[in-house]
Amino acid sequence: MSGEYQRPFAEAGGLRLHLNENTGGCSPRVLDAIRALDAGEIAFYPEYDEVVRETAVYLGVPPDWTLLVNGLDEGILAATVAAAQAHVIRGGGGERPESIVPQPAFDMYGVCTGAVGGVVVDVAPRRDLAFPLAGVLDAIRPATRLVFVTSPNNPTGVRVTLDDIARVAGAVPAGALVFVDEAYHDFCGDTAVPLLADHPNVVVGRTFAKGHGLAALRAGCVIARPATLAPLRRVVPPYSLNVCAAAGLRAALRDTGHLRAYIEQVRTSRDLVYAACRRIGLEYWESGANFVLVRVGERAGALVEQLAARGIFVRDRTGDPGCAGCVRMTAGVVEHTERCLAAMEEILCAAP
Ligand SMILES: Cc1ncc(COP(=O)(O)O)c(C=O)c1O
Repeated sequence: MSGEYQRPFAEAGGLRLHLNENTGGCSPRVLDAIRALDAGEIAFYPEYDEVVRETAVYLGVPPDWTLLVNGLDEGILAATVAAAQAHVIRGGGGERPESIVPQPAFDMYGVCTGAVGGVVVDVAPRRDLAFPLAGVLDAIRPATRLVFVTSPNNPTGVRVTLDDIARVAGAVPAGALVFVDEAYHDFCGDTAVPLLADHPNVVVGRTFAKGHGLAALRAGCVIARPATLAPLRRVVPPYSLNVCAAAGLRAALRDTGHLRAYIEQVRTSRDLVYAACRRIGLEYWESGANFVLVRVGERAGALVEQLAARGIFVRDRTGDPGCAGCVRMTAGVVEHTERCLAAMEEILCAAP
């Protein structure tokens, strides 16, 4: 997809299981940190030294390997702009810069590539929705500037092996980037950070929206070797993270117990979804994220509507490549998952 991002709608007050959010909320310490800001801190431009240092320690990399961004969306945009700029500097060979997007994929890759005048090269999904390594390798051309790899993937929850990522990183043209989007890292622990040692063209994206529940504060981080990050740094505005996000992020990183408890809920919730799918006889994908993709079949649209009528929002992914008849539901807070599954079973087990 390229064009404008279409924000999904959900009526206020419902159970929001359609955007992979942390429906348990952020740590109370985040709210305390924001409340503790004084008038001067709101009036002055924010300082980032402490939050950068603490984030780097948390991520286990040197501070100059990190770039804080206003949500990972901004990191994706920065990488796309930097890749397009590198294309222009290299002469471009009369072609537009290409981004390879293995499908199904998060919409922002297409949106950002379109915004910089680039070409989205979609790679068709495999039937099992596993990472289409062969298709990605086939799609690589001299005009390839960026390859998006999402692990675990959204909307499938499917994880990508480090071997596959390394194969892609070794195959792209000089100067091209491999953007490994690890928005859902917290829920499986997988990371491509160790690849940075041998593959300087790899850029890893993280968000604190999901595990840490800071989606509305907007806080993310891009991790790469300093020389790789330099062109992205030139894209991101100097005060991109506002002071509430910076203070909230520091508090969230310190409250590891809050994160751990949510991850535990996610693990239990995923198992509950799998068990329900087996009971009802629905195909599902084992997920490394805080959501599960379920193949409901022809009744997917009706299920989404009937759940919405009960104030439970899940996402119809039927329009995504390879996802006909699929819905994606957040599997986070156990009580929320149970409510959704009970309604889902009632609807699906009633006569059609
Ligand atoms: C794969 C993926 N990448 C990036 C993002 C954006 O993260 P943020 O909210 O930090 O901009 C999301 C959000 O849902 C996502 O699913």
